[in-house]
Amino acid sequence: KMDRKTFLKLAGGSCLAIAGVPMLLTGCSSVHRVNTIARDNRLTVSKQEFIAGVEKPREVVLVRELSLAFPIALYRLSADDYMALWMECTHQGCEVNAQPHYLVCPCHGSEFDANGNVVQGPAEMNLKTFKVNTDHENIFIYL
Ligand code: FES
Repeated sequence: KMDRKTFLKLAGGSCLAIAGVPMLLTGCSSVHRVNTIARDNRLTVSKQEFIAGVEKPREVVLVRELSLAFPIALYRLSADDYMALWMECTHQGCEVNAQPHYLVCPCHGSEFDANGNVVQGPAEMNLKTFKVNTDHENIFIYL
């Protein structure tokens, strides 16, 4: 049996702030994560990451590149339309948590929609976004 500390570690640092709330914890630990390596300032994520092993496509996948200070939340709007959001809160720089339809900051409660727009302060600026395009198999994020 996994102890709580191990579980939280696996669930990811960004979930720690809401660890006391079991329902939210379940939500954030289930966000699918992908590690990738930038080549020519571009990240490549297979479309399979959104559909493998699930009945309905995942709404969001967390993309981590080791040299980047924050992960990127990649939201699937349709099979060919994706949004890539830098997960640094525009209020004071905490890492936001990505949920299926929105992102929430554990520090002071700012919320952003899947397009990165502020829906609740104190943040006033939208999340930084990246240019994205796709081919049949992959999604490309331009850093
Ligand atoms: Fe995100 Fe303050 S740093 S709400």
